[in-house]
Amino acid sequence: TTVTLIGAPTDVGASVLGASMGPDALRIAGIARALRGLGLQVQDAGNLHGPGNPQALPQDGFRHLDEVVHWNRAVFDAGAAALARGELPLLMGGDHCLAIGSISAVAAHCRARGKRLKVLWFDAHADANTPETSPSGNIHGMPVACLLGHGPHALSQLTGGTALAAGEIALIGVRSVDPVEKRFVAEHGIEVYDMRTIDELGMRAVMQAALEGVDGDTHLHVSFDMDAMDPSVAPGVGTDVRGGLTYRETQLCMEMLADCGCLASADLVELNPALDVRNQTAELAVDLLESLFGKSTLMRPR
Ligand code: ARG
Ligand code: MN
Ligand code: MN
Ligand code: MN
Repeated sequence: TTVTLIGAPTDVGASVLGASMGPDALRIAGIARALRGLGLQVQDAGNLHGPGNPQALPQDGFRHLDEVVHWNRAVFDAGAAALARGELPLLMGGDHCLAIGSISAVAAHCRARGKRLKVLWFDAHADANTPETSPSGNIHGMPVACLLGHGPHALSQLTGGTALAAGEIALIGVRSVDPVEKRFVAEHGIEVYDMRTIDELGMRAVMQAALEGVDGDTHLHVSFDMDAMDPSVAPGVGTDVRGGLTYRETQLCMEMLADCGCLASADLVELNPALDVRNQTAELAVDLLESLFGKSTLMRPR
């Protein structure tokens, strides 16, 4: 399969500016070259276009709803087109609000083909706020709720229906959940592997649990928010939270995902070059993506 890189240079879902530069930082870190080095076919579809960041105050609980809708429609269309051509879309964000569009496209694709779907959402945050519960109005804190059908129609019904059932998503690396957001996560029975669980069980057991039931008939989508990682290794993010995933833990995740062989789409989001140190977080992202796409230290037994 061909990997199609789709750039979405926007930060309209965040309050910290700079994630809009993520796609170019990944290109500069050599994302296409690295994946080609693994023997993959890679095409860079360039950047999507959309409105700028008006830096407005929240209205009805949201900041920049119209702009977020615009960007997500573009992401949805580009993702859907790549999937229809049999390619593996890799969304380069941009902030995490864009996962509403990319995962809605994946969900529609799976529904049309009777494929099972599992989304692994790597994040320090649960991103499960609604406009009623959000402390910030930032839509990058709401995509999980939107994908489960809670949010404005323009975002929660991008496909004409609800994108995901609660059992189709698992959150990994979580360590910052807003008070009312906790209730949403609990009431929907969302599968969450928070940092405490990872500490107690270890990443191998966590990934085995998260991948349970994922088989050859499953479309696996990885939505990777760079703030899942510890800020000491990944400083280039807008909403950092200490106590995150180590480099080795994350590498193990990526290697186990590669072994499972079901990866069919992915998002790499929340990379903020304005806060980075000599592009090290972009280089880290490329390093992790190489492992996700099959780079291994030794010959891989098949
Ligand atoms: N929970 C906070 C909020 O709703 C932070 C969300 C951060 N999300 C992210 N994708 N980095 O504003
Ligand atoms: Mn996120
Ligand atoms: Mn986050
Ligand atoms: Mn619900």
